[in-house]
Amino acid sequence: MSSCWVIYNGSLTSDKFEDQARLIKEAAERAGIQALIKKNYEVMMDLTSSIENPPSFVVFLDKDILLARYLKNKGIRIFNDPEVIETCDNKANQYIQLAKHQIPMPKTIIAPKVYPAFTIRDSGYYEKVLESLSLPMIIKEGRGSFGMKVYLIETEEDFYEKVEELRGIDYVFQQFIATSKGRDVRVNIVGGKIVAAMYRHSETDFRANITNGGTAEVVTLTAAQEKIAIQAAAAVGAEFAGVDLLFGENETPLVCEVNAAAHIRNILNVTGINVADAMIQYILEEIQ
Ligand SMILES: Nc1ncnc2c1ncn2[C@@H]1O[C@H](COP(=O)(O)OP(=O)(O)O)[C@@H](O)[C@H]1O
Ligand SMILES: [Mg+2]
Repeated sequence: MSSCWVIYNGSLTSDKFEDQARLIKEAAERAGIQALIKKNYEVMMDLTSSIENPPSFVVFLDKDILLARYLKNKGIRIFNDPEVIETCDNKANQYIQLAKHQIPMPKTIIAPKVYPAFTIRDSGYYEKVLESLSLPMIIKEGRGSFGMKVYLIETEEDFYEKVEELRGIDYVFQQFIATSKGRDVRVNIVGGKIVAAMYRHSETDFRANITNGGTAEVVTLTAAQEKIAIQAAAAVGAEFAGVDLLFGENETPLVCEVNAAAHIRNILNVTGINVADAMIQYILEEIQ
């Protein structure tokens, strides 16, 4: 009998991470797979010993890339692959990959690495960014979820304050897509196929994330939305992906981001579609 581990980050206290793991475990069990939920720190990354009772595969819901790689090196198949988790974990990295595949997205500039002694205001660099993207613009940290590290910058003062604050952190400057203010589309993709989608909107914030106060409803995707969502997931190599799409001019879709460990509870509640079942079916076909 196949067995699997569902790994999530045990240091995150919000119940939604364990809930996410439970949805996958239940789907695995429905498919006759013995499933164990594990917190990342419950797997000892001891390089000198072997893993007792290794599973047939791991569904990796965390961003502990070292753990994903450790398990992969032990010969265990990991979904998503550690390389994909790493690419997506850092949005700056991810945008480089999306751009390489000519995926339509807002104009994006990756911030340079700067050390503490650097005088930001004298460099001349940031004026060029302001000129190129103009205000309002988005500043987005490389690592962040639920809209928490995405900022709408409206004044030069806010711009320089944020730039100072983000020294030493990977981030990007991005064109603010005003036509998409407070609304986006989430598309869940499994193995190159769209499984579910929802329209998210917020009346109180420019970010449409549900965790950030947005609400969601069922949506029928346009052919253009379907196409770029699938292309975006493929561009980063994601077998499982939650792709966020923005609405550009005339509702032309633009890729906002690709999540490698997209949460599936909200989309289940909104659409009645359990993405976990599609994930498990996909894995079973892959590992045959
Ligand atoms: N360039 C942009 N223009 C307009 N809205 C944006 C832009 N980038 C992000 N947003 C809004 O902010 C939300 C969060 O951004 P996202 O990149 O998806 O980060 P997170 O990983 O935190 O979800 C998006 O769902 C969208 O509503
Ligand atoms: Mg998002």
